[in-house]
Amino acid sequence: MIQLTIPARPGTAKARVLLTGVGGSIGEASRSRLLGAGAEILALTHLPGQDGTQVDFCDDAALAASVEAMGPLDCVVLTHGLLEQGALATVTPGTWRRLMDVNLNSIYTIIHAASVQMVAGGSIVVVSSTAALDRSPGGGPHYTVSKWGLNGLVRHLSIELGQRGIRINGVMPCLVDNPMGRAFMTGEEYQSWVGQVPLGRAAEPDEIAKVVMFLLGDAASYVTGANVPVTGGR
Ligand SMILES: NC(=O)c1ccc[n+]([C@@H]2O[C@H](COP(=O)([O-])OP(=O)(O)OC[C@H]3O[C@@H](n4cnc5c(N)ncnc54)[C@H](OP(=O)(O)O)[C@@H]3O)[C@@H](O)[C@H]2O)c1
Repeated sequence: MIQLTIPARPGTAKARVLLTGVGGSIGEASRSRLLGAGAEILALTHLPGQDGTQVDFCDDAALAASVEAMGPLDCVVLTHGLLEQGALATVTPGTWRRLMDVNLNSIYTIIHAASVQMVAGGSIVVVSSTAALDRSPGGGPHYTVSKWGLNGLVRHLSIELGQRGIRINGVMPCLVDNPMGRAFMTGEEYQSWVGQVPLGRAAEPDEIAKVVMFLLGDAASYVTGANVPVTGGR
């Protein structure tokens, strides 16, 4: 079995991991895996009443300040995301901008602030989507483009961060068996999608979290700039 060791700075017992999306299925599964690996979790959430620091992900200054207040970081796991439906006629420029702020711009802001608090050996994982390989079947054009942006960010930043010994990778789920995965699909449409997956089912959130953990840890020490599809073969 591959030993999943999460990188921590020399001399520190626990890896300090910034995690987003903890209120969601993939974030929660990642949190549980990280805790199992002995990490210390510093969560950022957008709603009150959850563990972690609450912040408006569309407010760059507040978001950056929340990250800076965390101090040294070993790893960053960004799972938050918003799925919205829409077509050209219904996605207004304002709607477009808001989703970009949540799904893409906030991720740049967090990485911008967090990376200066990281040292060689650190690792960043971003949860994107296979929408970034073509288009989202359920989401609108803004969702698709936000995920294409994430894939590009991972590819681009891998060069600069690589020079500092920090890895960055993306995970692209296709269909996950959770409320987001079922959003905007009738039961029949959902079953038809599942029918086209070679493994014959949607992913469990933990099956995405396991790939997050692989990319984060020592087992993937020579992997960076990769956007990894986790699709059951679809
Ligand atoms: N489910 C799927 O089938 C599927 C497929 C492909 C890709 N993905 C991607 O996987 C990631 C995780 O999704 P999931 O399936 O776990 O969905 P989820 O259960 O809906 O979780 C998404 C989380 O994102 C955060 N979030 C939502 N709206 C936000 C906002 N306005 N500002 C900041 N954060 C916000 C929330 O976490 P907090 O409450 O902690 O802030 C929320 O719990 C997303 O990036 C999604 O695009 C999912």
